[in-house]
Amino acid sequence: MKKKLKILMVEDSKDDALLIIRNISKESFEPEYERVETPETMEAALNSKKWDIILSDYNMPNFSGLDALKIFKKMDFKIPFIIISGTIGEELAIDTIRLGASDYIMKDNLARLVPSIKRGLQETRIKKERENAIKALTKSEDRLKSFMNSATELFSIWNSEINLVELNKAAIELFSPGAVKKDLIGKKMTDLIPSVKESGNLDKYLEVIKTGKPYYHEQITPPQLGSRNLAVKAFKVGKGLGMLTTDITARKLAEDKLRKSYTKLQKTLNGTINALASIVETNDPYTSGHQKRVAFLAIAISEELGLDENIIESVGTAAIIHDIGKINVPASILSKPGKLSDIEFSMIKTHSRTGYDIAKNIEFVLPIDKILLQHHERLDGSGYPDGIKGKDILLEAKILTVADVVEAMSTHRPYRPSLGIDKALEEISKGKGKIYDSKVVDACEVLFMKKDFNWDKM
Ligand SMILES: [Fe+2]
Repeated sequence: MKKKLKILMVEDSKDDALLIIRNISKESFEPEYERVETPETMEAALNSKKWDIILSDYNMPNFSGLDALKIFKKMDFKIPFIIISGTIGEELAIDTIRLGASDYIMKDNLARLVPSIKRGLQETRIKKERENAIKALTKSEDRLKSFMNSATELFSIWNSEINLVELNKAAIELFSPGAVKKDLIGKKMTDLIPSVKESGNLDKYLEVIKTGKPYYHEQITPPQLGSRNLAVKAFKVGKGLGMLTTDITARKLAEDKLRKSYTKLQKTLNGTINALASIVETNDPYTSGHQKRVAFLAIAISEELGLDENIIESVGTAAIIHDIGKINVPASILSKPGKLSDIEFSMIKTHSRTGYDIAKNIEFVLPIDKILLQHHERLDGSGYPDGIKGKDILLEAKILTVADVVEAMSTHRPYRPSLGIDKALEEISKGKGKIYDSKVVDACEVLFMKKDFNWDKM
């Protein structure tokens, strides 16, 4: 199938125009043309529609190929312009090429015309494609630049010698406020960030370039740069280094505020716990200090077991208020010398659940309420209030149980004198694995027998 070709013909001779068109039609084109012979008609034609090519005579009575070429250049059309002339000399023809014509053909050698048109169209197509690619690239570069410059993060790119290659507005404001970008490009990092060498970061950046492994660090800018907290991510870009720096000053301030408010809350909570502990001891003066001593031993056992910090904290907090439920038991029963009746003992037993009820209303992060509930449970299910067994009892409660028994037996009680630490250790040893957790008992024994534990160190 023949290719359609819209030709603007600048030619004063109708016959010559027909001859040329006939020549083109013989081959692969189906030409459609308009003939003009003055500058005005040429301009009007160029403005009226899209043309594929301009074929222009050189010598015309009212116009010349050179003037036509000037109009063509002025209007900046991206199509081939071929001079076809019978009279043009070689030198002049070469001049037209220099002025922007794509080729020139002698009228007595029209056989060259079609190959010349084909070449011209192909060159135009290639030129257009290249221009489009450059346009797209520029557009994407512009988009990237505008993105980088509007970002609050700091971007900078450095070559393998750590000289600055590229940076965005935010980075200029950090490195050299008010400076012009072109004055910074090419500078050494050590000139722009004087502390980079002594902080050891320069070596780290060189390592990033060498290994390709990204490096993250936080730093504070010097006071003259506002003492800002920065998070820096350095990564390999080509043979050099890319750096993405984020200002985390606001985040750091918020974290600091949160930490302070958490510490304050923790202090308030500790105050509340101590107040709770002293309330029950007011009601039960004979066991004064019992909870603190139990807590001291329970924490030591937890540490001996190598438990997690959170568990140690929950054991300590629970221990210090473990008998809070006794607030509900009449003081006359708590401080009664001698043996208790069954009813009196069952009243004492309610303190585990009462303690749980009190603690569950306090928003502890740790399971304090459950530890209080279970601190008189025994491995074999013989404890109270629920008679639960082994794995159903929290480890924290098992630790509290052993510490509670050892402390209670080794100190004076209203109903009996102190039985002594040996008796207390004998009791947990006898119950080891049956009613008391074996590992907890072992840890407690190590403390007293090998590590010289005693409450005087409190
Ligand atoms: Fe208790």
